Amino acid sequence: MAIGQRCTIYERARSKIIMVQINWRIKSLLYKVLSFFNLYKPLFFIQKKITKRSEINYKNIVFYWDYHLKFLKENNSKKIIEIGAGKSLAQNIYLSYMLEKSVEQTLIDISNMLDLDLFNKANEQIAKILGVSKIPFAKSIDDLKNNYNIIYLAPMNLNQIFEKKLEFDACISSTTLEHIPKEELKENFLLLKKIIKKEGIISAAIDYSDHYSHTDKNINNLNYLKFSSSNWKKYNSPMLFQNRLRHQDYRELFKSIGYKIFEIEGEFGKGPEFISKEFDKNNKETLMLWGHFLLKQ
Ligand SMILES: C[S@@+](CC[C@H](N)C(=O)[O-])C[C@H]1O[C@@H](n2cnc3c(N)ncnc32)[C@H](O)[C@@H]1O
Repeated sequence: MAIGQRCTIYERARSKIIMVQINWRIKSLLYKVLSFFNLYKPLFFIQKKITKRSEINYKNIVFYWDYHLKFLKENNSKKIIEIGAGKSLAQNIYLSYMLEKSVEQTLIDISNMLDLDLFNKANEQIAKILGVSKIPFAKSIDDLKNNYNIIYLAPMNLNQIFEKKLEFDACISSTTLEHIPKEELKENFLLLKKIIKKEGIISAAIDYSDHYSHTDKNINNLNYLKFSSSNWKKYNSPMLFQNRLRHQDYRELFKSIGYKIFEIEGEFGKGPEFISKEFDKNNKETLMLWGHFLLKQ
């Protein structure tokens, strides 16, 4: 396990971007209001045009993209599914270049967040970093399949994938599992046992940091560990739901469903001045900032 310099996965992925800062309590209140009125589109507009949170500014390849790449290659995965694709699909564009479009990537998301403008910007930057000629820009979802071998399905969940009787060699996921409630996570990983072939793999990178700390540098990057479950409910909103599960909780969950864990990577933080007694302060994994799991059946 790599013990590094206390950097969140988010800081590592977005090293040069200076985020608009906002007090985390105010942000949680805003998110509660926006969630209540289901104002997702206005939020995406604000993140793109005003706070520039969705801005695409890749200077380097994000380290966990290479984890997925390595394991997909080693396991000769040809047909993969990603849970939680996001807005720009940058990770999938990278995989498309590196695997020369030989792998069919089916991407699912509970919300339709895809923004082709951000996709095309990410494509331009990733091609530049790799020093390769650019795959043509996408003007429609059909272009994703034709030019990148990417199938984008949203809104879509794993249950619907199972009902369609689709099967895959691998599942990848990046900075998404922390947004799924524990019970739903369990259901998803039980479904994956049926959706992923017996010899298949799951490669998952998880961000364990308090996501409010990404835009409020005045709080510790594990600030949310201070709160009991009932207090945390005041701040947790559907728009930025955070399950606060720790690395050891994921390990237990995966083991309890019968997965074999093959690789673990991660990095530790310092934690806030005190943590709620609901978390195990004697287990140093409680303070992990991010982790990566490779699972097999
Ligand atoms: C932080 S984004 C990560 C996007 C992308 N994987 C990346 O690394 O940039 C999390 C994504 O997961 C999606 N998501 C959250 N819960 C989900 C679920 N239960 N099933 C599928 N997608 C989900 C969100 O809509 C969002 O697009």
